Amino acid sequence: PFPPKLAPSMLAGNHANLRDGLEKILKLPIEWLHLDIMDGHFVPNLSFGPKTIDDLRPIAPDLFFDTHLMLARPDLMIDAFAKSSDQITIHVEPFYPIRETLHAIRDKGLKAGLALNPGTPLERALPFLEEIDLLLLMTVQPGFGGQSFRTEVLEKIQAADQIRREKDLPFRIEVDGGVDAETGPQCRQAGADTFVCGTAFFKADNLEKFRQGIEE
Ligand code: DX5
Ligand code: ZN
Repeated sequence: PFPPKLAPSMLAGNHANLRDGLEKILKLPIEWLHLDIMDGHFVPNLSFGPKTIDDLRPIAPDLFFDTHLMLARPDLMIDAFAKSSDQITIHVEPFYPIRETLHAIRDKGLKAGLALNPGTPLERALPFLEEIDLLLLMTVQPGFGGQSFRTEVLEKIQAADQIRREKDLPFRIEVDGGVDAETGPQCRQAGADTFVCGTAFFKADNLEKFRQGIEE
């Protein structure tokens, strides 16, 4: 079992002043930062690119940079994102060489994650479970922050956790989308250990209390 980690998402911060959001995180005992990268093809939205992450890196040299690539061709962008990331997560849905891309991420010394949209069956991830450090189960359709948590994904979290136990595999289970003080503990109960929070984190009036509710 992995210690639970809260991974605040920079997507929900003020993009004209990302430093401000990052400094809020740095005041707390938070170890992870989630960075959402969108290409306008795999998802109908754009966010930010490698330069933004490179520029955030020196402000937070000790945070674990958890980069989530929502790209139609993530395989073409690994080099660009590897420089300032500690982990890169790629989606299983687009058509590109998934296994080779997971290997390329690990060959750079990074951890590798694989993500599934809410409607994508867990079976699609099974061939890769021995080659990943993290399984990201999206709890909203990716593309936008601030959406409602999809309760039906809880069953997929349970199933993933069961497979993880049966096969004794060391990957984290991360949830992303609509995770807050209420849905986070539901995900944890189902077997998740890594919690991306965008909107709920930045809206919380007591950030340390919010962190405790997720991590402790
Ligand atoms: C969705 C992104 C998420 C999102 C989470 O496309 O992958 O990381 O920003 O944001 P909230 O917590 O607002 O749902
Ligand atoms: Zn994300």
